[in-house]
Amino acid sequence: MKKTLIVAILICLAAGLSLPGCKPDPSINIAPPDTSGNISFAVPAGWPQPVYTFENNQLTQNGFVLGRKLFYDPRLSRDNTISCGTCHQQFAAFSHLDHAVSHGINNLLGKRNAPALFNMAWMPTFFWDGGVINIENQPINPIQNPVEMDLPIADVITKLKGDDTYKTMFTSAFGSDTINSQRIFRALAQFMAAMVSNNSKYDKYVRGESGGNFDEQELRGLSLFRTKCALCHTEPMFTDYKYRNDGLRADSNTGDVGRMLITGNVQDQFKFKVPSLRNIALTAPYMHDGRFSTLDAVIEHYRSDIFQWRNTDPALRFNIALSDQDKADIISFLKTLSDETFTHDPRFSEPR
Ligand code: HEC
Ligand code: HEC
Repeated sequence: MKKTLIVAILICLAAGLSLPGCKPDPSINIAPPDTSGNISFAVPAGWPQPVYTFENNQLTQNGFVLGRKLFYDPRLSRDNTISCGTCHQQFAAFSHLDHAVSHGINNLLGKRNAPALFNMAWMPTFFWDGGVINIENQPINPIQNPVEMDLPIADVITKLKGDDTYKTMFTSAFGSDTINSQRIFRALAQFMAAMVSNNSKYDKYVRGESGGNFDEQELRGLSLFRTKCALCHTEPMFTDYKYRNDGLRADSNTGDVGRMLITGNVQDQFKFKVPSLRNIALTAPYMHDGRFSTLDAVIEHYRSDIFQWRNTDPALRFNIALSDQDKADIISFLKTLSDETFTHDPRFSEPR
C-alpha cells in the first residue's frame, strides 16, 4: 500500500505534476520551455501556481503572435504614434526607461511610472493601486486613456478591420476573421501572460547552475535582503502582491493616494502594490511616481527617510539600519536579479 503511494508520487514528480492531488491541469503547459522559438508556458520549479492559467484563452502560437503584433502597433493610438511598447520597452524589462511618469500621446504626462512587465500570469491585480483585477481587462485602460493612447476601442476595431494582415491573423488565432475587443484583449493577454522572467543570475544561483556563482558581496547582499526586505519583496516573485505604505513622503506633483483611490478606505491612503524587484537594475526610475533615479537613492530612503504616516507599514516603524557597506552589498545582490535572456528574448521583441 505504502509502496504504491510512493510509486504514484514518483510518477507524479517525474511527469512534472505538483503534489498534492497530482492531477494534471489541462490548461497549463508544463513542458520545459521551448527552444524552437515557439511559445510555451511553464511554471518554473519552486514557483507558486499562476493566477492566470489560460483556462478560457488557450495559449497558442498564433494567438501569441497576434498579441505581440498588437502590443507593438502604434495604430492602437489616436494619432498612430504610441504603442504599448512605447512605454513598455523590452530592454528595460518592459518599463519606460528614464521616464518618471508615463509619456503618452502628444507628449502628455500621466501620473504614474510605467511598471516593468513580466511574470504577469502570477499577478493577482494590476496597476500600482490594484485598480484592474484581470489581465484581459487591462488593455482598455491605456488604449482609451486620454493621456496615453486616447482611442475609443470601437475606433481601434475599425482600424484593424481595414487591414488584411490582421484579418488573416485573427483567423489563424481564433478561427474566424471577426475582430472584436474580446479577441484583441485575449491576444494581448496571451502575449503578456506568456512573458516569464526566471533566468537571472539569482535564478541560476538558486538552481545551482553554472553562471550562478555568487561572490562574497552578493552573498552578503542576499542575506541582508532576506532579513531586511524580503518580508514584502518575497522570493521567488520578489513581491507579496500586497498593498503597503513604505513611508514615502507625499508626492507633490499628483497627491496620488494609491490604493485608497480604489477602496475609498482612508486606511489605504498612500498604499501601493509592492513591486517585484526582479530586473530592478534595468527599470529606473523607481517608485510609483519615479521619484528616485538610482537604487542608491531607494536604499537611502529605507535607511534614513522613512516617513511615519498613520499607516506606514509596521515593518517600517523605524529606518532600516544599514551601513554604507550593507547598502553596497544589497545593491550588488539586486543586480543579480537582471534577466538578460528575457530582455533579449526574440519572442517578445518587436516583430519586423
Ligand atoms: C503612455 C504610456 C503607456 C502606454 C502607451 C501603455 N502603458 Fe501600460 N502602463 C503605463 C503606466 C503608467 C502603468 C501604471 C498605471 C497605474 O498604476 O495606474 C501601466 C500599467 C500596465 C500594466 C500593469 C502592470 C502592473 O504591474 O500592474 C500592464 C499589464 C500594462 N500596463 C500593459 C499595457 C498594454 C497591453 C498597453 C497597450 C495596449 C499599455 N500598457 C500601454 C504606461 C503605459
Ligand atoms: C514594508 C514593506 C516593504 C519593505 C520592508 C521594503 N519594501 Fe521596497 N517597496 C515597498 C513598496 C510598497 C514599494 C512601492 C512604493 C511606491 O511606489 O510608492 C516598494 C518599492 C521598492 C523599490 C522600487 C521598485 C520599482 O519598481 O520602482 C525598490 C528598489 C525597493 N522597494 C527595494 C527595497 C529594498 C532593497 C528593501 C530592503 C532594504 C525594501 N524595498 C524593503 C515595500 C517594502
